[in-house]
Amino acid sequence: MKKLIAGNWKMNGLASSLAEIEALKGVTGEAACDIVVCPPFTLIEKAVARTEGSAIAVGAQDCHAQASGAYTGDVSAEMLAEIGARFVILGHSERRSAYREMDAAVAGKAVAVHRAGLASIICVGETREERDEGRAIDVVRAQLEASIPNTATSTNTTIAYEPVWAIGTGLVPTLEQIEEMHSSIRQMLKERMGGDGQHVRILYGGSVKAQNAKAIFGVSNVDGALVGGASLKASEFTGIILAAV
Ligand code: 13P
Repeated sequence: MKKLIAGNWKMNGLASSLAEIEALKGVTGEAACDIVVCPPFTLIEKAVARTEGSAIAVGAQDCHAQASGAYTGDVSAEMLAEIGARFVILGHSERRSAYREMDAAVAGKAVAVHRAGLASIICVGETREERDEGRAIDVVRAQLEASIPNTATSTNTTIAYEPVWAIGTGLVPTLEQIEEMHSSIRQMLKERMGGDGQHVRILYGGSVKAQNAKAIFGVSNVDGALVGGASLKASEFTGIILAAV
């Protein structure tokens, strides 16, 4: 399966940061993977313009489930599609914890993303406490079951496994732990989606750097990465992209 390397800029980046996206255009020729950068809403349209004609796709980090209406401060999937976004990250742990986004809300947003013709990157992952209690696999399975809508196909859906305790901490699960979780996610996807579940990309996220990417990409059922901090600088993100080749 062709790997997908996705950058999540979170709430970082002003117009001056667009040069970091533009600098990636140089590597896409060498890259045998799909690349998407998800800057804040304010930079999406500009990023689309600056990457036109290249292999780099641009995505958003969230959207509302409705197409329009009285939802002050929100942005719909249709609005994102109109400005050229092609992916939307949904259910990131920072949104699940800071805004109490529940699985059902994530599923509703994913339906909206698919309705607008975009692709969803649905995030799941356990906390440190849940892993220590031996519940990581069960927690992630329950999140997946309730967060993936019936509109999901391998073309419009990617899963990102991001252990909460590995995000922004420099901590990474062992390769065995990643393999165990990704294989469990694959199993669940096949149960849920039949043969198509085999083709859904499963990304690993949480402290991925140029230096550890190659080993992580060697793990079976790891079909790419969702990268936070290391996606902000083209030099570091390029190292991760090239590790996926
Ligand atoms: P870091 O790569 O900074 O750990 O962040 C991971 C993440 O949350 C990507 O969505």
